[in-house]
Amino acid sequence: MDRIKIFSPATVANISCGFDALGLALEGIGDEMVFTKRNDNQLIITKIEGANLPYNINENLVGTVIKAMLNDQNMQLGLDIEIYKGFKPGSGLGSSAASAAGTAFAINELLGKPFTKTELVQFAMLGEEAACGSPIADNVSAALFGGFVLIRSLNPVEVISLPVPDNLFISALHPQIEIKTEDARNVLPQEIPLKDAITQWSNVGGLVSGLYTNDYKLIGRSLQDVIVEPYRKKLIPHFDSVKRAALNTGALGAGISGAGPTIFALSKGMETAKAVEESMRKVYSHTEIEFYTFTSEISVDGVKTIT
Ligand code: HSE
Repeated sequence: MDRIKIFSPATVANISCGFDALGLALEGIGDEMVFTKRNDNQLIITKIEGANLPYNINENLVGTVIKAMLNDQNMQLGLDIEIYKGFKPGSGLGSSAASAAGTAFAINELLGKPFTKTELVQFAMLGEEAACGSPIADNVSAALFGGFVLIRSLNPVEVISLPVPDNLFISALHPQIEIKTEDARNVLPQEIPLKDAITQWSNVGGLVSGLYTNDYKLIGRSLQDVIVEPYRKKLIPHFDSVKRAALNTGALGAGISGAGPTIFALSKGMETAKAVEESMRKVYSHTEIEFYTFTSEISVDGVKTIT
């Protein structure tokens, strides 16, 4: 294989209760990337569209991921790399993760698939570390595995695929402000009260159980975050009003997508999800802040080859 074109999905990390432990992949929103073998051993980013990211391979997380994979295999490879960002960095929709997971997937294909999916998660995590200072696994795992994922352990990495109920849809509002993941992590406390930890891990259990049993109401009751949301919502203008509007319109639950500023809601049925999107849109249409909204299925595909 001399050339590969891939689609790597946007992702929602945390899903309220599972900070750094839960993620899901979105349908239709994501990045495209093209990797073409060269006759020499140079790695050259030839095109970046949709975001202002470094062309220098030593400054772009794509280079970090490729070099780690080639080093592991003791191989050299020259590539021209094209990156087409389908959504903005700093959105809370896993922009760096889409690039990192897409790169890990594509290089594995070009090398003849020497790595397992879990190993690809580990390489993609190096890209996350390069981008935001922490080797986070939730977004890259959701992008590589698709569907809902649970990161049961980081050392060693263990990713568990969870079922995706057929009738679950996501609505989201993305305020056009950028929140750097590193900054959103710096506002969090290093220690938390035991009672909050109990609430949180009970909700993670409830959400996982709800996904297995198609219990939409249980899924909704479990979408609570008493640990991260209270700190991060201060970075997101009108967060409480948007969340309230979504819940009043029938969403099962709502919260911050990843590190924000995107606000997401889960609903049963496309019709409700569309109404929830509209209710979120209404709140922001009374503000000066630019935004866009969307409704999406949860994608069961992870990163994939496209033509
Ligand atoms: N779990 C990470 C966080 C995701 O919330 O900081 C970063 O996109």
